[in-house]
Amino acid sequence: MAPGANTLTITDNRTAKQYEIPIENETIKATDLHKIKVKDDDFGLMTYDPAYMATASCKSTITFIDGDKGILRYRGYPIEQLAEKCSYLEVAYLLLYGELPKKEQLDEWAMHITTHTFVHENIKKLMDGFHHDAHPMGMFVSTVAALSTFYPTAKRIQDKKEREITFYRLIGKAPTIAAFAYRHSVGMPYIHPDNELSFAGNFLGMMFKIAEPKFKPNPILEHALDVLFILHADHEQNCSTSAMRGVGSSHVDPYSAAAAASAALYGPLHGGANEAVLRMLDEIGTKDRIPAFVKEVKEGKGRLMGFGHRVYKNFDPRASIIKRLADQVFEVTGRNPKLDIALELERIALQDEYFIKRKLYANVDFYSGLIYQAMKFPVDMFPVLFAIGRMSGWLAQWNEMLDDADQKIARPRQVYLGKGQRDVPMLSQRG
Ligand code: CMC
Repeated sequence: MAPGANTLTITDNRTAKQYEIPIENETIKATDLHKIKVKDDDFGLMTYDPAYMATASCKSTITFIDGDKGILRYRGYPIEQLAEKCSYLEVAYLLLYGELPKKEQLDEWAMHITTHTFVHENIKKLMDGFHHDAHPMGMFVSTVAALSTFYPTAKRIQDKKEREITFYRLIGKAPTIAAFAYRHSVGMPYIHPDNELSFAGNFLGMMFKIAEPKFKPNPILEHALDVLFILHADHEQNCSTSAMRGVGSSHVDPYSAAAAASAALYGPLHGGANEAVLRMLDEIGTKDRIPAFVKEVKEGKGRLMGFGHRVYKNFDPRASIIKRLADQVFEVTGRNPKLDIALELERIALQDEYFIKRKLYANVDFYSGLIYQAMKFPVDMFPVLFAIGRMSGWLAQWNEMLDDADQKIARPRQVYLGKGQRDVPMLSQRG
């Protein structure tokens, strides 16, 4: 084949046969490798890629990341501009419908979300059944799953109207469920949504309202939370989004798929990392103990939580925005004393050969927890806050998957390395 042709030539040395594999979008189709066989009845060559290090599971038009350059864009718009110029609800609309809403579209969208914030009274009973010290993320995962039993028609996933109502319900109810999980854990009565407040303001009200007749969120904290929701809204094919797509590919209802995505987010290597960062900073305790902690990390005795990313190998643009946001929040709340430990930890890590060599930088979770804590969110609520923001991204990705003719039920292959066929011995004959 002539140089410059958009194909990959593979020579199979077992058979001396040559294969021309088309390259499209810098990608080859793994199924094209099936053609590479020694015998006609072979399955054909497979790729081995645990954790999908170099495998694209879908085509997408939603989120673009260039990890080396620290670029993150939703539908082409840089995250920095979206965080500066838009509200979370505008960004959620953008992710779902592909364009930023015009004024009338935004008003209608906000009205739909706002009028779907209430949950059925039986949801409260369900949540009452949790133990007093249940982790709010465990409550969130279960309650999102339970929503499928309240909205059985959501199973009609090919019906665009049903899908759209699910967008309203899941985005609208996520903050309500999150706040109820918190109120349950502290033994406080649930606070109903206030339709006159913004998306973030209403959430703050449901979390923290006590006896005041009308909750008035602090505008700086309300804005900071809204920006944090924007920063967490989507991140292409991460672990929880892959769960949403993978589980959704069985054509289960969207509530069950969103519960699976939330469960994936719960893990400390993903959305649970912001919680783990705060616990780590508590464990370090004082600045003088940082070098000993870093030494232990380098010896493999633990990870520097909030550091490193599968995709970002230069900096996480979300972390830079959050660092600036932290200053605004701390002006209202007072400085979180752990900030000094975090700053020093970051400074030491960034100069250390171990972290430089592995391209490990502070990610979105390194500083977000400090803001959440300064805003009086308990540490175990942090992954739940992540889930509220990410709900719109999960839904956008799920919606895109359902309309993608290339997609089928997710079903990876394996390389079987176990025993060959053998006969089952009787119990008495097993040595
Ligand atoms: N602390 C210390 N060493 C690390 C860390 C860390 N946080 N992250 C990676 N490494 C080392 C790792 O030990 C390995 O070293 P070696 O080559 O000597 O074996 C090398 O760096 C590559 O790590 P990896 O685990 O192969 O990288 P990965 O792409 O599979 O993992 C990660 C990405 C985010 C899971 C990982 O960096 C990590 O565990 N970070 C801490 C948890 C965290 O902050 N997660 C939040 C991610 S951002 C929010 C989100 O999107 O979920």
